[in-house]
Amino acid sequence: MSSSYTVSASGAASDINPRVNPGVVSYTAASAVVLLLLMLLGLALRLAQAEWLPMPPDLFYETMTAHGAGMVGIAGLAGAGIMWHFLSRHVRLSRGILVANLVLFLAGVAMILGAIFLGGFGGAWTFLYPLPATSGGVWEPEAAALYLGGLLVVGVGFLLFYLDAGRAIIAEYGGLGAALGWPILIGSRRARLPEPTVVASTMVTLVNTLGLVSGAAVLAVSLINIAAPSFAVDPLLAKNMTYFFGHVFINATIYMTVIAVYEILPGYTGREWKASKPFLWGWTASTVMVLIAYPHHLLMDFVMPKWVLIVGQVASYTAGLPVLVVTAYGALTLVYRSGIRWDAASSLLFLSMFGWAAGILPAIIDATIVVNLVMHNTMWVPGHFHFYLLLGMAAMVFGFMYYLGRDREREESTLDRLAVWAFTLGGIGFALVFLYSGKAGTPRRWAVHLPEWVAYDRLGSVFAMAVVAAVLVFALRFLIRVPRLLAMR
Ligand code: HEM
Repeated sequence: MSSSYTVSASGAASDINPRVNPGVVSYTAASAVVLLLLMLLGLALRLAQAEWLPMPPDLFYETMTAHGAGMVGIAGLAGAGIMWHFLSRHVRLSRGILVANLVLFLAGVAMILGAIFLGGFGGAWTFLYPLPATSGGVWEPEAAALYLGGLLVVGVGFLLFYLDAGRAIIAEYGGLGAALGWPILIGSRRARLPEPTVVASTMVTLVNTLGLVSGAAVLAVSLINIAAPSFAVDPLLAKNMTYFFGHVFINATIYMTVIAVYEILPGYTGREWKASKPFLWGWTASTVMVLIAYPHHLLMDFVMPKWVLIVGQVASYTAGLPVLVVTAYGALTLVYRSGIRWDAASSLLFLSMFGWAAGILPAIIDATIVVNLVMHNTMWVPGHFHFYLLLGMAAMVFGFMYYLGRDREREESTLDRLAVWAFTLGGIGFALVFLYSGKAGTPRRWAVHLPEWVAYDRLGSVFAMAVVAAVLVFALRFLIRVPRLLAMR
């Protein structure tokens, strides 16, 4: 199967076949709505810390749990939609599985929301065994079970999605190694060069399948423990399995959304983005590194074997870098003197390169053991992950939304341009304030802040408002185009 993507004389992106699978439209529309709603929840958290919005602590932790778990889940769904859209041009994916994943996702979300807002569960998205079941009376074990069960249902949907992607890639390329370009890397001249989308999808399929199995196992164990408390496992083992899953899953979101950069930016520049040997080496290196970098979440656990923590530190320095370097370098050479037309889609996709690259730097600093011991429980950590998830991953999703919903007959409005600027400046300001207040020692996950931290919270809230206003424009712009996209069948 080959790509149906071309470049028009004007240099703007165009698609010979404008049909978009309704499943992909549903994934993207759900992502638009949920991202907006969860950002509103995030804003409420920041306003509460700023003392501009009264919020009792138990509601703060419920809202933080919904925001964190929801954002991780919706980032995965948005990425899966982008991956399916472009990967289906190269391999035969199952539409049934695409729908099944969405149905399981919605069912799981309903369970999670019920557990949080009806059951009062507020144990954060990281659900560390055995803490969900030991609430000290704040919520009942049933609420914890509903929350963990909801995560399990969502996870099963994603597992089906990646198993189907793996099946389709193997059927077309003969193996996952071939789809990562390994025969080319060992010098075979006859081997087929996989497309960047196929390489990225294969990497995500591999690492996320392993991560999801680990996450599902620890969720199942936690559920059994709630039903029969005499059944216990080693909490350190459970923590390793949980963070292996969480780290891999959230990192993989950006490895899926980056496919939008590979597929859409070339259409704007009139240049092709082909996989090269450095590109293939970069993706293979990141495949290994992302699997062994997770111990950087456990650097404060003094009971962990020291060598594992050292592996975590070293792997963290290199985990995302190979892919980031080949992607950022590729994007710069693609855009340089290309006469690219800057519109909302191309601007957001290009911005995402900056957001990803800049956001990874504070992450690398935090992954250094001696720094981590001081910084890890401060706002430095939300600072780094909001930087690359908001300005990197989410910027890619919004760029994809503009690309998918573009209207060739109409010029983009001033409102869209303003929204892109508000998102960029608001997002940078928002993330920098998190980082700065972390440097100043503000702890993370505190519902009530000391008076000396409140100024940061207020400044952060103002920047967050700009981001939310921009995302309202992005989301509405896409949603009003959904009926037209669905009619193109
Ligand atoms: C307008 C945009 C956003 C706002 C205002 C916002 C705000 C916040 C706030 C105030 C916290 C709690 C920080 C703390 O005290 O520890 C938080 C945590 C978090 N946010 Fe956001 N956020 C936004 C966007 C995002 C995005 C785009 C993502 C990911 C895709 C995300 C994922 C998370 C996660 C995973 C947590 C951690 C929750 C936990 O500690 O369990 N947020 N956010």
